Amino acid sequence: MRNNFFLLFLLLVSGIVLLYACKHEILFQDNSGGTGGGGGNPPPTSNCNPDSVYFVNQIVPILSSNCTMSGCHDNITHAEGVNLTTYTKIIQYVVPGNAANSKLYKVIIKTDGDRMPQPPMAPLTNAQKALLQKWINQGAKNNNCIGSCDTTVFTYSGAVKPILDNKCVGCHNPSNRGGNIDLSTYAPVKTEALNGKLYGSVAQQTGYSPMPKNGAKLSDCEIRQIQKWITAGSQNN
Ligand code: HEC
Repeated sequence: MRNNFFLLFLLLVSGIVLLYACKHEILFQDNSGGTGGGGGNPPPTSNCNPDSVYFVNQIVPILSSNCTMSGCHDNITHAEGVNLTTYTKIIQYVVPGNAANSKLYKVIIKTDGDRMPQPPMAPLTNAQKALLQKWINQGAKNNNCIGSCDTTVFTYSGAVKPILDNKCVGCHNPSNRGGNIDLSTYAPVKTEALNGKLYGSVAQQTGYSPMPKNGAKLSDCEIRQIQKWITAGSQNN
């Protein structure tokens, strides 16, 4: 009898997970890292194929920290009529399978004043451009995977910097200092770690501005990695 209940419970849970995974219109969600790891649970098994680029995990963070901030391509401003807040809207500027012919890609590789993000904002990094190019050439799918996130890894280079580069630096760099904060190099990140704002903002504690601004909250595992790095002395390791 007990076993039957357990089975039923399992079925229910997997049903909910499936339903969730099928909600293609809810975009600015990020499952990378899942929620495991926080309470000493084993990290979730990753189903991310290293050869694929994932819209939700990799493309959305780039767009939300470089393109969809207020004043640019958000729901309110949609500069030049361009709104990049949902997959359906983004895909209008993409020819799936053909980055070279996709407006979204063409504007980010421009070198003149028409490039996006527009000067004085910094251009996307080569790695970010390459990801967008690969995602489009792989068919520009609205895809998503569960990334592996391991709370036993909490060095600056192995955990903290990759999270910040992917989800924060677009709004926090020398030419675009959101809240007058630069998170592109170690020294200023350490300052924010020591004054409590880094953790307060990503854990979205009261009294802090919730980060990433307008984006999906970091996974519990990512928040825990940042917390552990800070507790261990915020080293440049
Ligand atoms: C879309 C742009 C954007 C993104 C993405 C973003 N920030 Fe911010 N951040 C801002 C702005 C703008 C402010 C100034 C306060 C405000 O407007 O909420 C700010 C403020 C902050 C502050 C100060 C908070 C406080 O309460 O004083 C911290 C710390 C911070 N951000 C960290 C981060 C981290 C860490 C990430 C990534 C996980 C991130 N931000 C992603 C735009 C952004």
